[in-house]
Amino acid sequence: MVGTADGRVRWGILATGGIAAAFAADLVDLPDAEIVAVASRSEESARAFAERFGIPRAYGEWDALAGDEDVDVVYVATPHSAHRAAAGLCLAAGRNVLCEKAFTLNAREAGELVALARERGLFLMEAMWMYCHPLVRRLKALVDDGAIGEVRSVQADFGLAGPFPPSHRLRNPALGGGALLDLGVYPVSFAQLLLGEPLDLVAKAVLSGEGVDLQTGALLSWESGALASVHCSIHGGTPVRASVTGSRGRIDVPDGFFFPDHFVLHRDGRDPEEYRADPADGPRTSLRHEANEVMRALRAGETESPLVPLDGTLAVMRTLDAIRERIGVRYPGEAVEPDLATV
Ligand SMILES: NC(=O)c1ccc[n+]([C@@H]2O[C@H](COP(=O)([O-])OP(=O)(O)OC[C@H]3O[C@@H](n4cnc5c(N)ncnc54)[C@H](OP(=O)(O)O)[C@@H]3O)[C@@H](O)[C@H]2O)c1
Repeated sequence: MVGTADGRVRWGILATGGIAAAFAADLVDLPDAEIVAVASRSEESARAFAERFGIPRAYGEWDALAGDEDVDVVYVATPHSAHRAAAGLCLAAGRNVLCEKAFTLNAREAGELVALARERGLFLMEAMWMYCHPLVRRLKALVDDGAIGEVRSVQADFGLAGPFPPSHRLRNPALGGGALLDLGVYPVSFAQLLLGEPLDLVAKAVLSGEGVDLQTGALLSWESGALASVHCSIHGGTPVRASVTGSRGRIDVPDGFFFPDHFVLHRDGRDPEEYRADPADGPRTSLRHEANEVMRALRAGETESPLVPLDGTLAVMRTLDAIRERIGVRYPGEAVEPDLATV
């Protein structure tokens, strides 16, 4: 049974950084959500966060939150490098989990979390909020209905100007830094939303002195003959646009394609059709749609969301692994250990 007697879903928040605060601010506005606990690596941060958002329980360690039976779902908002440990701890203790993107460092870790959730019959979802965004869902429905014919190509980019100092998590290999996992996950997930898992890919990157990717470009290919060109950067602000070209037309998503306020459908031989966000859906950056999807699924007794299916998350993680393999980015925990027996 999920929720309080009056039907509100009880959230726990794990970590107290930037996106945790943005998500908490959006949850506070949802009448059927209640944040009942927060955990941080430090008691002081947990208490300050709890005070800021009116949260009754503040824990200075993760175990207490994972073990809190009065939490229906934990939102994991640590850097990617800690997603496996934090989400795994919560699932092992019987909590449902919404875990930030990139879901984990690599597909192996993602597979472990998915297996654990499925074994325990618990809800697990990647916080790929783009997939829950009403206009992105509209775009997908149009493409699936054949509005532009057979998809031939996708282009998408996400680059931030920075500069990010070497001390920033985006530059830190130990925290899964680099453009690909943080930003490139959006263009890759967008392409895979429309085309599924690619058959093959090529990729090229520019690496930082720390060994993370400053910018990466990849060309993904499908058996159908479709291609997707994806680009991400942490040292150049790109337009953050997407376009999907089909055999009978094209859809352009200008400016912030993963949280659009409009897009334009060009059907061959017809006037362009503009689709605009419904103001009732709230600010375009709102994370309420993913929160609502989690709460809907929990109330319906579903263990995964049809909007953000775990097999889709696993397929994206395999693509990110394949891109990293081509560009030579490997994170510290992934280093091949020397075989001591042979040293
Ligand atoms: N959905 C979105 O739009 C969106 C936007 C931004 C980021 N994200 C994702 O959210 C995650 C966090 O990003 P952020 O921008 O919020 O980062 P951030 O501001 O650096 O916050 C991360 C928090 O995680 C905890 N933390 C820091 N280092 C850690 C470590 N080594 N091990 C465990 N916990 C650690 C800290 O909280 P405590 O001190 O309380 O432990 C820190 O405040 C990333 O995976 C990122 O890709 C998503």
